[in-house]
Amino acid sequence: MTVNGKKPKAEPAPPTTLFLFGAHGDLVKRLLMPALYNLSRDGLLGDGLRIVGVDHNAISDADFAKKLEDFIRTEAASKVKGNGDNALDPELWAQLAKGISYVEGDFLDDSTYADIGKKIADSGTANAVFYLATAPRFFSEVVQRLGSAGLLNETDDGFRRVVIEKPFGSDLATAEALNACLLKVMSEKQIYRIDHYLGKETVQNILISRFSNVLFEAFWNNHYIDHVQITAAETVGVETRGNFFEKTGTLRDMVPNHLFQLLAMVAMEPPAAFGADAVRGEKAKVVGAIRPWSLDDARANSVRGQYTAGEIAGKPLPGYREEANVAPDSSTETFVALKVMIDNWRWVGVPFYLRTGKRMSIRDTEIVICFKHAPYAQFRDTEVDELRPTYLKIQIQPNEGMWFDLLAKKPGPTLEMASIELGFDYKDFFEMQPSTGYETLIYDCMTGDQTLFQRADNIENGWRAVQPFLDAWKEDDGIQAYKAGEDGPAAADALLARDGRAWHSLG
Ligand code: BG6
Repeated sequence: MTVNGKKPKAEPAPPTTLFLFGAHGDLVKRLLMPALYNLSRDGLLGDGLRIVGVDHNAISDADFAKKLEDFIRTEAASKVKGNGDNALDPELWAQLAKGISYVEGDFLDDSTYADIGKKIADSGTANAVFYLATAPRFFSEVVQRLGSAGLLNETDDGFRRVVIEKPFGSDLATAEALNACLLKVMSEKQIYRIDHYLGKETVQNILISRFSNVLFEAFWNNHYIDHVQITAAETVGVETRGNFFEKTGTLRDMVPNHLFQLLAMVAMEPPAAFGADAVRGEKAKVVGAIRPWSLDDARANSVRGQYTAGEIAGKPLPGYREEANVAPDSSTETFVALKVMIDNWRWVGVPFYLRTGKRMSIRDTEIVICFKHAPYAQFRDTEVDELRPTYLKIQIQPNEGMWFDLLAKKPGPTLEMASIELGFDYKDFFEMQPSTGYETLIYDCMTGDQTLFQRADNIENGWRAVQPFLDAWKEDDGIQAYKAGEDGPAAADALLARDGRAWHSLG
């Protein structure tokens, strides 16, 4: 991430060989390749990029490139810039495709790494990025083998970087073990732990808006903010990922990563600079300040839900237990609502309520900063019998923008209040280009900017805050049903009602 408008004039990334482990997987076809195409369209890749797919299926270089092209033209056309009838510019694609090749190999076989070494030697550059778009069980296996083959040794002539996808561990202990394994074979500055929420413009903008507009700082604290709500609502179910989801559940899938990224952007202290160390240091501090709940408190401050059959937009949908590869008596959660407290000077006493779930009424990722009540005294003896609290809504997706909800006087002789909205809608100010959300992250990795990637302590602090919920649920999973199309179980409303509050309606 660069600031002060440097990005449009940004230099193309240095010549790099990008190894895509898990080359036949969805991530590569749906997101990484379209993102690389978009970067190349913006002139940010230069001529020196080689893309090497690594996977166990046999395929020639040309067929691999053709397969990617066909997929993007049919399935991922909406993600590439300049689409329309002709989703890919033939010349531009041909230029990118020239650099595409393939290594057939088992991730656990040393000979695969010897082949990778040869590719680097023939590429004309010592710079290499190893992108692990694989199942998580391969993360440490691949990294150890890259290390033993000497492929992670950096020289003055070239960098070696590893990109790790989520999920990074499945609890605190496994995340710590994975970090320890990575740090045995390379240094922190070579590790790029991805959270795709940080690739979203609206998420990066929280940081920029908060710290470049001085007015925000004036009220951004527990004197004026009553509580914060963070919601990531999805309408999709588990789709084809029943196997993965059964083991993972919504808490692990969404909270220590995506939702805590949003929380950190909202709650962190101003960094001393927009550099990787300063930004990540502040984020680690604020997530580290989340109060570690006791097991009883974790139970009292969390709700687990699972969707049953219902409907969304008039379409009947099956329940989670009827989905493919899901146990008929599954107790995996597809919804969570949590209350967390941040024990630092800025936020003491301000609850952060988090909720996320599948098959909710609409797709909506939003942060609502709810302000305290204004004192009522001056309105006594007027027609105003209630002063409701106001809020700022930051909509991450799909209708990106920020809206202040305020109160104003209705014109007329009596004193009546009306709600008004002061808004910033991205579409009104910026051209919204198709994108995958991975463009900035890939470019930043190739240019060596780690600001938008997770450091070991960011990840571990996230798991540390989530661990009490995992532990509490082991003993009593207390899962609550909600119908597909509802915004979670009634207990999620009760979590706020208990504190005299209510969820902001979605949309
Ligand atoms: C992924 C989760 O990391 O994020 C998915 O594994 C989830 O379960 C997705 O659907 C949500 O991402 P987005 O960008 O659609 O909000």
